[in-house]
Amino acid sequence: MRFDIFTLLPDTFAPYLQASILQKATERGLLEFNIHNIRDYTHDKHHTTDDTPYGGGGGMVMKPDPVFEAVESVLGSPAPCPVILMTPQGRVFNQKIAFELAAHQQIALLCGRYEGIDERIREHLVTDEISIGDYVLTGGELPALILIDAISRLLPGVLGDPDGATDDSHASGLLEYPHYTRPVEFRGWGVPPTLLSGDHGKIARWRREQSLQRTLKNRPDMLPNADLSESDHKFINGLTRKT
Ligand code: ADE
Repeated sequence: MRFDIFTLLPDTFAPYLQASILQKATERGLLEFNIHNIRDYTHDKHHTTDDTPYGGGGGMVMKPDPVFEAVESVLGSPAPCPVILMTPQGRVFNQKIAFELAAHQQIALLCGRYEGIDERIREHLVTDEISIGDYVLTGGELPALILIDAISRLLPGVLGDPDGATDDSHASGLLEYPHYTRPVEFRGWGVPPTLLSGDHGKIARWRREQSLQRTLKNRPDMLPNADLSESDHKFINGLTRKT
């Protein structure tokens, strides 16, 4: 999958992309990252990428001309792929959107800076707007890395374990069950005996119940959309009667 990233802070991407599992996937040809500095597409002496807002008020606004020129000269016009603006005003990113975007061969990410971007970028260049949550960061670079990471790990071959993404929290609509590894006793704390029993049916049931319990406690809002069996419902009803 190819990612084209348009940013005013191109140096912020390499440290993460070259230090993680994503680097290995890039070497194996599964991922391609092209980082484009929007400032390279300015033509004035000072390489200006922002200006004061029409109508007054504080803050600076990202100018449309360098952004259009950067995106159009790299991708052509119209772009052959989604052009996604990272903005707190976008639809809120989640695992479902990660799956949706992972189906593309190529996506472009536009990282906003300053107080805002000229609205014509949003109206005539961008095809999608994504937020990573209801809080405001200084720019779209960290959100873009979050999107890249969540999407990339869904692509075949990127994770070492081919089933690595299927048990994830959120993949099934529930939070994931707890994990344990050696030692069997650590500082006096043991491992749940069921996990040591070797009884695969019992272990699967325990994990399912832990998932349900954890989701009910931490993210009850997820339960109405989760795919639940009759015995899941019974288990949850038992829990809610107790509390
Ligand atoms: N840029 C600044 N804040 C953001 C957010 N929450 N999501 C995406 N882009 C952003």
